[in-house]
Amino acid sequence: MKTLIKNGTVVTATETTRADVLVDDEQVALIGLSLDATADTTIDATGSYVMPGGVDVHTHFDLPFGGSFCSDDFATGTRAAAFGGTTTCVDFAVQDYGEPLRPGLERWFEKGEKAQTDYGLHMIVREVNERTLNEMDRLVDEGITSFKLFMAYPGVFMNDDASIFKAMQRAADSGALILMHAENGGPIDVLFQQYLANGKTEPKYHGVTRPASMEGEAVHRVFKLAELAGCPAYIVHLSSRDALDAVKEARDRGLPAYAETCPQYLFLSDDDMARPGFEGAKFVCSPPLRPKDHQADLWSGLATGDLMAVSTDHAPFNYKGQKDLGVGNFAKIPNGLPSVEDRFTLLFQGVLEGRLSLNRFVDLVATAPAKMMGLSPRKGTIAPGSDADIVVFDPTHERTLSAETHHMNVDYSCYEGLPVKGLPKVVLQRGHVLVENGEWRGREGAGRFIPRTRFAVP
Ligand code: URP
Ligand code: ZN
Ligand code: ZN
Repeated sequence: MKTLIKNGTVVTATETTRADVLVDDEQVALIGLSLDATADTTIDATGSYVMPGGVDVHTHFDLPFGGSFCSDDFATGTRAAAFGGTTTCVDFAVQDYGEPLRPGLERWFEKGEKAQTDYGLHMIVREVNERTLNEMDRLVDEGITSFKLFMAYPGVFMNDDASIFKAMQRAADSGALILMHAENGGPIDVLFQQYLANGKTEPKYHGVTRPASMEGEAVHRVFKLAELAGCPAYIVHLSSRDALDAVKEARDRGLPAYAETCPQYLFLSDDDMARPGFEGAKFVCSPPLRPKDHQADLWSGLATGDLMAVSTDHAPFNYKGQKDLGVGNFAKIPNGLPSVEDRFTLLFQGVLEGRLSLNRFVDLVATAPAKMMGLSPRKGTIAPGSDADIVVFDPTHERTLSAETHHMNVDYSCYEGLPVKGLPKVVLQRGHVLVENGEWRGREGAGRFIPRTRFAVP
C-alpha cells in the first residue's frame, strides 16, 4: 500500500520545503519535488503544511487520582489526541504502595490495549527500595526508559530526597531519565491546611497555597541532586518564571537539565482559577496556573531552548461529578486539565503571533520530545525510514475551541470560545489514515506500544 502526499509544504524541525512525500506501507519512503511515483492513494495537500505527527510525552489516561479516574481512557484519549494532530502519547504507569513496579506496569499495558494511536510508557515510582531499584533496570531493557518521581503530594506520591537521590543514581547507571514533579510538598501541605482551617476553601486557594517560589526551590534541588548522582533530569509541567530561572541556572552550568511546559501555563492564568462561584475548579492543576506575567518568560524559554518541549499533562476530570468533589474544600478537587486535543493548534498560535518559528514549533510539538524520550528517529520527524505519522495541517482554517466540538471525553473546555487558526485536516499513523476532514477512520486497539531507547543527549 503506497500513499502519495502531493503539493504540500513539508515542515520539519530544521527545514521548510515544497515537496511531495511518498509513504510505502508504514514508513516514509521518499521526499522529493513533484514525485511521479505510482500510489494506491493520493492526498492533495495544496495550501497545507505536511508535518510530523505530534508527540505528547505527558498524558494521564484512566489515571486514578484524587478520588476519581481521569475521564479519558486510552481509547477516547488517543482518538482525541489524533484529532488534534498528535499521533504518539507517552503515558504514566503507576506503582501502587506495597507493590513492586511490575503489576502497575501490567495494569497500564492492559489499559493501553484500547489505544488508537501509538504510545509509550513512563513509570511512576512511589516507593524506592532495593526491589524497585532492581526493577528499574529491567524496565529500561523493556523500553520504559524514564521514571517519574514526586516532590509533592505527601502520602499520595511524594518521595523524600534520599529516595530521589537513590533513584537518580540508579538511572545514571542504567541510562534512564528521571522526570520530576517539582513542587516542595511539605510547606504546600502546611499552607493548605492553614487556609482550609481559616475557611478559605474556594478553588483559587489551590493556587495561593502552591506558590511559584516552592516550584523554583524544588527545581533547583532536582538539579543539585541530579548533578551529585550524575544523571539527566527533566522537569515535567514547568509552570513559572521561578522554576525556569532554576532550569537556566543548571543549563548555564552545562548540566543535562531539561524541562517541558504545557499549554495551560502559556494561555491560562490564576485569573481563571478566581472565576466566580466554583468555576475556578475547571482550572485546578498542579503546579497551579500562575499570574499572567509569567507567560512571556515561558514563551521566551521555548524560543531560546531552555524549555525543550510542550506536553499537555492531559488529566481530564468532568466539571459535573468529578471536579465538584471539591465544593467547599479546594483540596478535594481532582487535579488536572484536559488539553491533549488542543496542544498542537494552541502552540501554532505562537507561530502566528511571531513568538516561534514554524520549525521551532515542529521541534517543540514533535521532534524534541521524541528525541528526549527515546522515540527518535522513528517518531517526531518526516524522513526516509521514519514511521509515516503525518499531519496535513491547514494553517488558515478558522475555528473556535469548545466542549461542543472537541473529542475529549470531558464536559468542558479550558479554552471555551477561544478563536484559533489551524486544523489538522488529515492525520496518518504509520501510513493509515486516522482522521480525514473531521471523520474518524482509526480503530480501537490499532495503536502499538513503542519501546523507547535509553536517554541520549538530544
Ligand atoms: O494536576 C496535575 N498535574 N495532575 C496530573 C498529575 C501530575 O502531577 O502530573
Ligand atoms: Zn506531576
Ligand atoms: Zn502529569
